Amino acid sequence: MLRRPTFLQIDPPSRDTLADEADAGLRAPQAWLSPKLFYDALGSRLFDAITELPEYYPTRTEAALMACHGADIAAAVRSALPAAPTLVDLGAGNCTKAAALFDLLRPAHYVAVDISADYLRNTLTCLQREYPELRMSGVGMDFSVRLALPGEVLAHERTGAAPQSALIFYPGSSIGNFDPPEALRLLREARALAPGAALLIGVDLVKPLEVLLPAYDDALGVTAAFNLNVLRRLNALLGADFDLADWQHEARFNAAASRIEMHLAARTEVTVRWRGGERHFRAAETIHTENSYKWTVEGFAALLAEAGFAQRRHWTDERSWFAVFLASG
Ligand code: AVJ
Repeated sequence: MLRRPTFLQIDPPSRDTLADEADAGLRAPQAWLSPKLFYDALGSRLFDAITELPEYYPTRTEAALMACHGADIAAAVRSALPAAPTLVDLGAGNCTKAAALFDLLRPAHYVAVDISADYLRNTLTCLQREYPELRMSGVGMDFSVRLALPGEVLAHERTGAAPQSALIFYPGSSIGNFDPPEALRLLREARALAPGAALLIGVDLVKPLEVLLPAYDDALGVTAAFNLNVLRRLNALLGADFDLADWQHEARFNAAASRIEMHLAARTEVTVRWRGGERHFRAAETIHTENSYKWTVEGFAALLAEAGFAQRRHWTDERSWFAVFLASG
C-alpha cells in the first residue's frame, strides 16, 4: 500500500506569544530568553554544525550507544511492550534518529512531534518513500508548555482504539533544557500519552568541567554564533536594535543547579531599544539564554520513578558521559 503521512498543527506557535515572552524576559532583573528562539532556519543549521564539533560529545556518544546496544535496547523494548509500538518522536526535527530505529523496532505507526508541522512535511514525505507501508503522522506542537496529543492522532486507523503499545522517544538530552520540576511534569505527561507507554530517552551526565565547558564554548566559535543568533532573531521579532558586536558568548557551569548556563554578556555598557521597550545593560551584565542540566544516573532514575515508571534500565558509554534510559510500567 502506498501511504501518505497525515499532518496536524496544534495551537500554531504565534509570533505574538514568542514576542511577548521575549519582551518580558528582556525586562526581568536577570534578563532571560527562551531557548526556543535558537531554532530559526539558520539556528537549526548552526545546531547541526554543533553536533559535528569535536568538543560536542553528546550527539556522537548517544549515536554510538544506540549503535552498540541497539539490539539489546530493541529486545528490552519488545519485552516491555506487548505489540508493535506506536513510536512517538518528541522534537523529531529531521527524523534521522527515529528512522534508525524503524528496522530494529518495526513500529506500527510513527508519530513525529516538533514545534512546526510545516517543518515535518518535507521530512516525512521523503521518509514515507523509504518506508511506504509505515503509517506516519506529523504533529506540530509546543510540548515545552504541555505534552498531550488529541486521541485521534494515536488512535487505530479503523477501530479508533487507543494504541496497545507506545514508545515515547526523546533523544539528544533535550530534557536537559527543563529544570527538574518541569522535567518531571514532561515525563509524567509522556507516560500518560498512552496506556502502558514506555519511554526511551537520552540524558547527558555530570562530568569533568574540562569536558563540559568546551562542549558549550568550542574553539571554532559555532556555539557562540548559535547563541548570538538569538539577537538577530530579536531584531526581527521585536524590531530591536541589538548590535551583535556589543555581546559576547559565555558558557558557565552552575554546580549548585548541576547545569550548563549559556549567557550573552554585554562587552560595554549599552542601551537596547525595541518596539515598546528599552533597557540599559551595564558592562558584563548578561542575558541568560539556555540551561542544559546534567544528571547523574541515580538522579535521573529517581526522577523516572517519581514520574511513575516502575521499570527502569539504562545503557551508558565506558566513560559514563551519556545515558540512554528505557522506562516502563
Ligand atoms: C539540544 C538542548 C540538547 O543542551 O546540549 C548545544 C543545545 N546548546 N549547544 C544541549 C545546545 C548549546 C543542546 N540540546
